[in-house]
Amino acid sequence: MAKIISFCSQKGGVGKTSITAHVATYYSQIEHVPIAVFDCDFPQHSLSSIRASEIDRLKSDETFFKKAERLTNTPYPIYSETLVNSLPKLDAYENKNELVFVDLPGTLNVEGFPGIVKRLDAAILLLEADPISFESTMHTALAIANFANKNGGMVPTYLLWNKYNVHEKEERYSSLEQAAMNYLDSLNADRATPMNVKFMEYRIPQSVNIKDYRSTLIPHRTIEPLIKELNKLFVPNNATA
Ligand SMILES: Nc1ncnc2c1ncn2[C@@H]1O[C@H](COP(=O)(O)OP(=O)(O)OP(=O)(O)O)[C@@H](O)[C@H]1O
Ligand SMILES: [Mg+2]
Repeated sequence: MAKIISFCSQKGGVGKTSITAHVATYYSQIEHVPIAVFDCDFPQHSLSSIRASEIDRLKSDETFFKKAERLTNTPYPIYSETLVNSLPKLDAYENKNELVFVDLPGTLNVEGFPGIVKRLDAAILLLEADPISFESTMHTALAIANFANKNGGMVPTYLLWNKYNVHEKEERYSSLEQAAMNYLDSLNADRATPMNVKFMEYRIPQSVNIKDYRSTLIPHRTIEPLIKELNKLFVPNNATA
């Protein structure tokens, strides 16, 4: 069975595209897990643009070309689609033992969004430690919770700090985590189906490695700690064998 995962947020610039690229490329080239990526961030289609510029770069940057030559797996497909058009293609992956990532647009109130939610095995909400990011993450969690997944429950939803400031006091993060859980618990009191939301343990640091080594072709070890946690949560058991 495919696992369909989205790093998402209604807040712009929190790292949806960068983290999708890092994670997909690491799984594909280092863990040898078959990967497909749906770039539904219409009309930007950033992931497809990154792939196109990397293909161009192969012609002009010898070091990059040499790294690409050492890759053992064919680069994964990136489908540029609107949400609506991605739905039948996602269904075609249903019985494949692959990991599928969906890069969603920032505006979730668009045609096709309920269909995507229904198909997700996990939504990973990226957030930064500022009030706007925090609030929009809560909205995103609610937008997802408004629709049932294929099992009739809520899509398992994870909150993942990105651009984590290692010099910031722990208190800033732990108090925001507590506030988020209190808020979601208070909403659960009135819901027939409780929301299934938790924080991931790993926090992705603010790091130039995330910026500089973001690639749809060449994997980078900077994302390894996140992969380890994702492996425990979602990766098809026999896909990494
Ligand atoms: N952990 C990180 N450390 C440093 N820079 C980061 C990190 N994560 C993302 N960035 C940078 O933040 C910027 C925004 O990232 P990205 O484009 O991935 O966000 P996005 O959520 O996809 O944005 P959009 O809403 O425009 O689709 C990029 O310049 C990226 O390199
Ligand atoms: Mg993006």
